[in-house]
Amino acid sequence: MNANTNTNNNASPPMINFAQPCLDDATIQDVADVLRSNWITSGPKTVALEQALSAGFGGRPTRMLTSATAAMEVALELCGIGPGDEVITSAQSFFSTMNMIAKLGATPVFVDCDLVSRAINLQQVEAAITPRTRAIMPTHFPGALVDMDALMGLAQKNSLRVIEDAALVQGSYWKDRPIGSFGDIATFSFHPNKNMTTIEGGAIVVNTEAEAKRVDILRFHGITRLPDETRDVVVAGGKFNLSDVSAAIGLRQLPQLEGFLQKRALLVERYFSQFPQVPGAVLPPRDFPRQSWNMFCVLFPFSEMQLSRKAFRDALRQQGVATGVSYEALHTTTLGRSYGYKEGQFPNAERIANETLTLPLHVNMSVEDVDRVCAAVAAILKR
Ligand SMILES: Cc1ncc(COP(=O)(O)O)c(C=O)c1O
Repeated sequence: MNANTNTNNNASPPMINFAQPCLDDATIQDVADVLRSNWITSGPKTVALEQALSAGFGGRPTRMLTSATAAMEVALELCGIGPGDEVITSAQSFFSTMNMIAKLGATPVFVDCDLVSRAINLQQVEAAITPRTRAIMPTHFPGALVDMDALMGLAQKNSLRVIEDAALVQGSYWKDRPIGSFGDIATFSFHPNKNMTTIEGGAIVVNTEAEAKRVDILRFHGITRLPDETRDVVVAGGKFNLSDVSAAIGLRQLPQLEGFLQKRALLVERYFSQFPQVPGAVLPPRDFPRQSWNMFCVLFPFSEMQLSRKAFRDALRQQGVATGVSYEALHTTTLGRSYGYKEGQFPNAERIANETLTLPLHVNMSVEDVDRVCAAVAAILKR
């Protein structure tokens, strides 16, 4: 058992969490130093983290915010998107994409995704473009990215902005370039479940310094500073600046990212080699080089297995295996339905929503933990 694996008080096996951050003593020391420094909100640590991240994104201007969700909101504002505008996005993603489009008064236009890679279906994107379309907002999933050449070509052909939801894929490469180093706007998450963490936190990568300056305004009350040292508000900005406490964590995490990703890749290889044969199950894509593995999601044909996902998850939990659901289908949420969508429209997104299970994957796990998860899956299915 490794040091970070939770233990229960009763006789049940130790719990393997489905996600977990990896924070070392040096990080805790740095946090204590920031707390003692009397400068705990956005300051030098945040700027240093932005510069360090930017270097990994090909020097593109990068700004930290309090979450990827905040980064998406600011990205949409940066593109001037609002009421009357349409943004094409995948029906299979985390709620933030739909929510931020809707929150700004624009209309989320859903399309389906690929069943295995979960990449947004670009043919359906093209078919969904109308004179009101302003942007495409795809989500990258671990294992295979959205085809960036095809996506950017489509966007350019139709004069559309692209806001990549790269929350799950920091460290993934499209051909020979890291995600975030090209494209239009990309947003990343540093939530504790992600490839690296700042507790809560997100980043936005933009095209120009002028756009980055606009982000500065949008993330902090819409304020600009005047020569007489008073302030003006030029836009109804939000309050999304990151604290230096969080940034100090990020500065320690970033140099470890490559090692974290290698460990995740090792664990994923073990999953692929040890996963039991389950007729009808769909494993993540495997054949794409230089991908980062934030999650290991498997589709189980629950209806054919005569077992509900809830019962399966409960049985796994009893064996000390915690799981997640990534993700529900956006168009069948109450908010999604309010735009006129209904079940049956996006079969892949719906099948993923009904059949997916996120198995434990984090850098504190050992290959033996993966074997335990696989054995627990096999034992429950045998029953
Ligand atoms: C695909 C995806 N996009 C965006 C987000 C939002 O990230 P944050 O919690 O930093 O707002 C998440 C969070 O889990 C996510 O999984």
